[in-house]
Amino acid sequence: MKHFVITGGKKLCGDVYISGSKNAALAIIPAAVCSRDVCLIENLPDISDVYSYIDVLSKLGVRCELINKHTVRIDSTNINSYIADYESVKKIRGSYYLLGVLLGLFNKAEVAMPGGCNFGARPIDLHIKGFEALGAKVTIEHGMVKAEADKLRGANIYLDIASVGATINIMLAAIFAEGTTVIENSAKEPHIVDVANFLNSLGANIRGAGTDVIRINGAKKLHGSEYTIIPDQIETGTFMIAGAITGGDVTVANIIPKHMESLSAKLREMNCKVTEGDDYIRVCSDGNFTATHVKTIYYPGFPTDLQPQMAAILSLAKGTSIITETVFENRFQYINELKRLGADITVDGRTAIITGIPNLTGAQVSATDLRAGVALIMAGLAAKGKTVIDNIKYIDRGYEKIEEKLKRLGADIERVKIDNVE
Ligand code: UD1
Repeated sequence: MKHFVITGGKKLCGDVYISGSKNAALAIIPAAVCSRDVCLIENLPDISDVYSYIDVLSKLGVRCELINKHTVRIDSTNINSYIADYESVKKIRGSYYLLGVLLGLFNKAEVAMPGGCNFGARPIDLHIKGFEALGAKVTIEHGMVKAEADKLRGANIYLDIASVGATINIMLAAIFAEGTTVIENSAKEPHIVDVANFLNSLGANIRGAGTDVIRINGAKKLHGSEYTIIPDQIETGTFMIAGAITGGDVTVANIIPKHMESLSAKLREMNCKVTEGDDYIRVCSDGNFTATHVKTIYYPGFPTDLQPQMAAILSLAKGTSIITETVFENRFQYINELKRLGADITVDGRTAIITGIPNLTGAQVSATDLRAGVALIMAGLAAKGKTVIDNIKYIDRGYEKIEEKLKRLGADIERVKIDNVE
């Protein structure tokens, strides 16, 4: 089994180039199928979730050709199935986008309930309510979500929660619906704008993405396009935190600084120096942090996907910090692992109370999900001595060659195969 072995205490310094957005890629890859034509998608992150999704499309008769590690050509002219079974989709959360895509294309879709990280119930009732409002009948049988409509018609849909997945999925299903669909209380995350821009490049008519009201005028037919995915907001934030937690000086490049405002503000509050250019952010720190409070919320608020990494750095901040997780019901499973490194954290429901300590100490730990795993890397980089992280397959789902990027900044991290760790 592969592990990461980190010897902490090295200051990270230098530039790191951020990859394409995982969450945008996981929506744009299936969305390309709406074109029934050829799309060239560039700036894909080289991560296992992307390859898993490409496999899923191939099983539907879509021709996917990797031109290089960051570019895929997707030819959906001969797509021949509206069914994606459990074996195909179990690994990825974003598989639920096939429901919207296939329902929009064929008025029929059968997709197994999605996989992905486990941090709570993660229902898809809002996706289903949206499909039903467009005129589909949706049933769940034997783990398969089945949606079917005689014809999809535009509708006004209010989302009780500004769900990222539901917003994108309804957008996908509504592309060909007759008339106008309005999604109110839509999510505003950067990758929602990216998916809408991509769909518009195919000829769709979507307005308002990035605000809380999105309007979709149904199209008859789309066409192929070439599209470049935006940089990953969460990878950017992770490397900003890596620079800060090691008392380093890191410039994250090829990014959109506007997407990072909530994190930049928090790092400044914590005594880090954060400066911005057009497409980069530089984070400098002397390793002395002040405690602060963080509440995760929808964009432009503090992202839940940076919450575990934030807990790692706050465990070293002077004073008491409080993290309140409002997006997911159960996203503190990783805290027990952070405690193995010495962190002083008490969890009470959706709140984590962190009392800063002067040093973390290396230990053997296990990644419980993608962002949890990367939070353990952050902590290990700062900890005294050796940290060994297992279950790193989770980290590979969402981070492109993370150890290589960290090593170039000066980290002592290795991916090693070990059966018994002392
Ligand atoms: C997406 C991201 C994930 C990120 C999350 C929040 C992808 C592949 N994943 O996940 O990385 O952490 O957004 O930014 O893009 N909810 C319902 N019913 C629904 C849908 C959601 O109750 O039908 C609830 C969820 O349980 C959760 C909240 O709404 O509590 C937000 O979920 P959502 O924004 O949908 O997250 P995902 O799309 O699953």
